[in-house]
Amino acid sequence: MGLEVKDLLSIHDLSTNDVNQILDLATTLKAQLKNGEQHHLLKGKTLGMIFQKSSTRTRVSFEVGMWQLGGSALFLNANDMQIGRGEPVKDTARVLSRYVDGIMIRTSSHDEVIEMAKYASIPVINALTEMMHPCQALTDIFTVMEYKGKLQGLKMAYIGDGNNMVHSLVQACAKVGMDIAIATPKGYEPDAAIINESLEVAKVTGSKITLSNDPLIAAQDADVLYTDVWASMGRETEQNIRKIAFAGYQINQKVMDVAKSDAMVLHCLPAHRGEEITDEVMESKQSAVFDQAENRLHIQKAIMVLLMGSEASSKK
Ligand code: CP
Ligand code: NVA
Repeated sequence: MGLEVKDLLSIHDLSTNDVNQILDLATTLKAQLKNGEQHHLLKGKTLGMIFQKSSTRTRVSFEVGMWQLGGSALFLNANDMQIGRGEPVKDTARVLSRYVDGIMIRTSSHDEVIEMAKYASIPVINALTEMMHPCQALTDIFTVMEYKGKLQGLKMAYIGDGNNMVHSLVQACAKVGMDIAIATPKGYEPDAAIINESLEVAKVTGSKITLSNDPLIAAQDADVLYTDVWASMGRETEQNIRKIAFAGYQINQKVMDVAKSDAMVLHCLPAHRGEEITDEVMESKQSAVFDQAENRLHIQKAIMVLLMGSEASSKK
């Protein structure tokens, strides 16, 4: 047991075996929790959680997850730390490595997370950067697996901004052989390097990755419909321009009508009803967004055990 990587920075870094281990252990841990079985796999361990951006799901699910695993978690607001006053990331990484057993970090710069992982002797988990949100995308494929019983050959349609969320989703879909059709407004496409890297992975797994500017083409016969906010954290000043650019990039009844009749709807949350998704779709029977939110807990517990557990650390 244990992943082939020291850190979880990007889904692209994971092997297929790593992804399967995370999904399998999350299934076991979820069942144990539901059955009231104790699973103190990280007894006495501590996770330091650095937040430079807001969070509801990530903070609560990591913190509760550590408690359920018999360990504890420390909430560290980056603005209250010396890192917020300019202490180098590489020094913070080495200092925290002397106190805690794992670092979870949510910050703007992806390079900062890479730097943290390079200098930390303990596992570092990316809990969202401007480029990626791997814990969320792993949760999303886990949720699809629960609902559909498989991943390979299914079609996900992602409608909206070419942001951190779609970067991690395309990497996840490529790894597990799921198709993904992405529709963004012109000028808001995902990062070309990430798409190209995933296209290489897709050649092996059989996943089909397509980009367009047409939500209805993307959603055609989709098994899963996914969207995210038009303006991510840090882009608040662009909100008004984006409202114009993204008009029409919404999961609504018209989009639902062209997808498969049993299509499920996912959203990483928080959602802006009336913008990227209608209230009607959010509240419909096809919406799985709250199961998806719950699954952050189970997937992240699996990730922490596989990175921070005794078998994992003895291997590295
Ligand atoms: N989906 C997600 O990461 O939510 P939070 O920003 O609330 O953590
Ligand atoms: N793309 C969103 C995801 C929030 C979980 C953001 O970065 O704000």
